[in-house]
Amino acid sequence: MPPARLVVLASGSGSTLQALVDATADDDFAAVIVAAGTDVPGCLAMSRAEAGGVKTFTVALRDYPDRNAWNNALADRIAGYGPDLVVLAGFMRILGPQVVRRFRILNTHPALLPAFPGAHALRDALAAGVRTTGVTVHWVDEGIDTGPVLAQVEVPVLPGDDEASLRARVQAAEKPLFVRTIRSLCQEYAR
Ligand code: GAR
Repeated sequence: MPPARLVVLASGSGSTLQALVDATADDDFAAVIVAAGTDVPGCLAMSRAEAGGVKTFTVALRDYPDRNAWNNALADRIAGYGPDLVVLAGFMRILGPQVVRRFRILNTHPALLPAFPGAHALRDALAAGVRTTGVTVHWVDEGIDTGPVLAQVEVPVLPGDDEASLRARVQAAEKPLFVRTIRSLCQEYAR
């Protein structure tokens, strides 16, 4: 079987995308990143992808009259790469049904869903004073971080944590969980 085709979407610094670029370089990983896309022109994630030899594309909201048009354009760009799986690696915009219904989409979220959905999971966990948070890898549906959960890992919140220290601990647990989950999904595709 040919390797699974992944399109990775990211909006930020791309450390999660980098972990996927590194992991898929392994011949045993039954997947190839066929493209990385973003909604944020010039974001570091796309520079990382290009440095790893991955094609990139940008579909910025400001270039479209409304979200509907943006979602349609994004869906068409993704479809052009014929992905088996779309992977959200810190993609920070909500995807519309035009995208969500067209592809199988996986997301990683820095909290133990259903706790702390949305764009500020780490800040929300700190504000709530929980002693444990974590990471959730889940299928994307039309809600905000509501799709079926595939994998979770707990991460402690330590006294004196701020957002930066908690982010570092959460992301250290997130990368191996995300890579492992995608690796085993792609092995299933390859069977
Ligand atoms: C990751 O921790 C990911 O879980 C989070 O953004 C970070 C991206 O970091 N995603 C969300 O919060 C989605 N709601 P990176 O840019 O260094 O890869």
